[in-house]
Amino acid sequence: MENSEDLGKAKPYVDANGVTVERLSPAAPEPAPRMNLSEALVTRQQHEIVARLEPAVTAIVGPDATSALPDAVAVFFDSYRTSPLTENKGGSQFNDGLTLFVLARLLAPRRIIESGTHRGFSSWLLRQASPDAELHSFDIDHSRLALRAENTTYHLCDWTERDLTSGADDNTLIFFDDHISHARRIIEAAARGFRHLLFDDNFPVTTLYATGGVPVPTVAMLLDGALQGGEELTWTRNNKLYRYRVDSVSLAEARRLIARTVALPDVTDLTAYASPSGMTYVELSE
Ligand SMILES: C[S@@+](CC[C@H](N)C(=O)[O-])C[C@H]1O[C@@H](n2cnc3c(N)ncnc32)[C@H](O)[C@@H]1O
Repeated sequence: MENSEDLGKAKPYVDANGVTVERLSPAAPEPAPRMNLSEALVTRQQHEIVARLEPAVTAIVGPDATSALPDAVAVFFDSYRTSPLTENKGGSQFNDGLTLFVLARLLAPRRIIESGTHRGFSSWLLRQASPDAELHSFDIDHSRLALRAENTTYHLCDWTERDLTSGADDNTLIFFDDHISHARRIIEAAARGFRHLLFDDNFPVTTLYATGGVPVPTVAMLLDGALQGGEELTWTRNNKLYRYRVDSVSLAEARRLIARTVALPDVTDLTAYASPSGMTYVELSE
């Protein structure tokens, strides 16, 4: 957090730690976190991020991803820095945007379907990551849509209301970031022949307070052997009390459709951009 005593100082000064502080001109409020390190430090930060992401990304994409990952991370940094949207409250931030971008770029799907457009930031990122993919973004509310990416179809409805099943094969990636039950989305995707899914907000029962409107049962809950059907889970967030009774039927139905899951590691400690995301790739059985 910025030291409030230093806010009014217009001239460069050296603080108590020997750090020279210079206010940039024109002075403007800092928007969403932007990379403001020197290039040398950015390079070092990117190396650390690549090392952290590599095991999960190669597990999802395959061994060829190892050589392509550094470039994908570097291109993400450039995209994020130059994004026309500087604020995305309620949507993807740096850490989850990074994993979304990297996977969309390295999987190189022919088609991407996103559920949860919000302001349009993640669809814009997907378009930068995968310029040639056919891109569909769904939301039931367009009142906050501020950024439209090129060659992208924005649908004002639930994704199940459009028939995109033609060619629903290995070449489609679906990104669910709509706070709708992960179990429900898995069952819907499987029924339509899709197999490659990416979920945001995949929180285990012990951190269900991490986001408002958590998409229960989450993927983590589907894989949680200790969770009992009929069990009531309660948690609070922002002065609201949430209760959810575990439905063993939908839990079992969704669980049996999953071939494997790969959680994307958190990089908060490497970027200091604190925003829990819980991005998880889910491959469904054939
Ligand atoms: C967390 S925001 C999405 C953020 C966005 N993906 C981003 O990263 O910038 C969740 C969005 O899901 C939308 N939503 C809610 N129900 C939905 C549904 N049935 N289908 C699609 N979107 C839905 C909400 O209106 C909201 O805009």
